[in-house]
Amino acid sequence: MAMFSRFKKDEVGAASAAATLAKVTQATPAPAVKPTAGMAPAPRVQATAAPKPAAQAVAMDKDRKRRDRLGDIKLELHKRLLDSLNLAALETATEASLRAEIAAIASEALDEMNIVLNKDDRVTVNQELYDEVMGLGPLEPLLKDETVNDILVNGPQRIFVERNGKLELTDITFKDERHLLRIIDKIVSAVGRRVDESNPYVDARLADGSRFNAMVPPVAVDGSLVSIRKFKKEKLAIADLVKFGAFTEEMAAYLQAAVATRLNIIVSGGTGSGKTTTLNALSSFIANDERILTIEDTAELQLQQVHVGRMESRPANVEGKGAVTQRDCLRNALRMRPDRIIVGETRGEEVIDMLQAMNTGHDGSMTTIHANSARDGVSRLENMVAMAGIEMPIKAVRSQIAAAVNLIVQASRLQDGSRRMVSITEITGMEGDVISMQEVFRYERLGMEPSGKIIGRFNATGVRSHYSDRFKQWGYNLPADIFDPIP
Ligand SMILES: Nc1ncnc2c1ncn2[C@@H]1O[C@H](COP(=O)(O)OP(=O)(O)OP(=O)(O)O)[C@@H](O)[C@H]1O
Ligand SMILES: [Mg+2]
Repeated sequence: MAMFSRFKKDEVGAASAAATLAKVTQATPAPAVKPTAGMAPAPRVQATAAPKPAAQAVAMDKDRKRRDRLGDIKLELHKRLLDSLNLAALETATEASLRAEIAAIASEALDEMNIVLNKDDRVTVNQELYDEVMGLGPLEPLLKDETVNDILVNGPQRIFVERNGKLELTDITFKDERHLLRIIDKIVSAVGRRVDESNPYVDARLADGSRFNAMVPPVAVDGSLVSIRKFKKEKLAIADLVKFGAFTEEMAAYLQAAVATRLNIIVSGGTGSGKTTTLNALSSFIANDERILTIEDTAELQLQQVHVGRMESRPANVEGKGAVTQRDCLRNALRMRPDRIIVGETRGEEVIDMLQAMNTGHDGSMTTIHANSARDGVSRLENMVAMAGIEMPIKAVRSQIAAAVNLIVQASRLQDGSRRMVSITEITGMEGDVISMQEVFRYERLGMEPSGKIIGRFNATGVRSHYSDRFKQWGYNLPADIFDPIP
């Protein structure tokens, strides 16, 4: 063990090898969770819901036992690793030397425990040890997996992922709640936060930009709940979204005109429906010489323009001090001479300032809201105004909204997992007490394939855009026939 000794502590407690050996070889019972059908064929994935022939079941059982045994060995190795690694040196260690060091300590420990692993198992164990020490343990392979959008942990034994809009149960588990808590703690302490019984939930951004939320027991009843929205460096661009069928080229041309001519736009949708992705893609239509300020609770947007100022709100610290709300950011942003303001999601009192900004010279501003239709979105805005404690007659609130918001695009995740812009609706003014709006494009559902895939098409509704003249004046000559419905 002389090599790589700079990562080793001076004193190594190498005792009790024999005592721990007995524990290690005892297999723990497998989690009572069965993965569902339709899971990706990764080697780690265990089973499908279909009944299995006996031979296959035995093979699966063996595989599970093997993994359980490996899990126990790993746990013991991990303990020893933490005992013998000089954690302070880890920060400066190169990946290669650290991996070599981990492999060396592991192999020494395995020798002491009289355990022989085949090469594949050794590689697996070393990788998982590396992930435990340097990364987020069992979550690490999921974080690296490009096909995974969301990671959802319901207690130590149930980890779900979202791929292609569908939730799947994985066969990845934490050893127990303490293991899970340790990883949560590692994440939140890295960003200077704390989570425990008295602060049972936390929102944070991982080093790679992923959005992270955790809630721990006793508020989380059956074990800690974690959700991670993975950060994609390569954001989906307009062309990708058109290719994936999120909307059509005609709709894209319309949206380009809308953004370029500075309409105020709200992207509405349910959770995970693609609001932020849509907002980000729409922002690409903003000219490069405009000064854009973005305000988010968790910085997710990635604008391509040169002149972008990004702000992130901040919750209060443990003593209840130091909070900077989205509203604070927004108010300050208005003094920073922006051409456009983009608020990642309007969900509270900042709605007042957002509407005011949209009404007073910061046209071309954009935000998202959580709502199921354009009409519903408007009611959400009304509610937010009311909740912010503004005493204003409903008609006045509505005229504010009607004057501020020009366009609502509705994003939706359909049953088959596809994400589509199911409606583009223009706000045209007030009729009496009611905000008048007209749908210009919509997604028409026509049926369903036996596989569950939804059959449908995008169509124009046949109404002429309320903003046609504006588009023309600004030099966007959209072909008239994009507003003609397909029969
Ligand atoms: N049209 C699309 N096709 C495929 N994947 C998409 C599409 N739109 C969004 N996604 C993916 O879906 C995930 C969720 O998207 P996004 O973060 O934009 O949703 P959201 O509505 O903002 O969610 P939240 O409500 O949690 O803020 C992301 O991983 C994103 O890359
Ligand atoms: Mg979002």
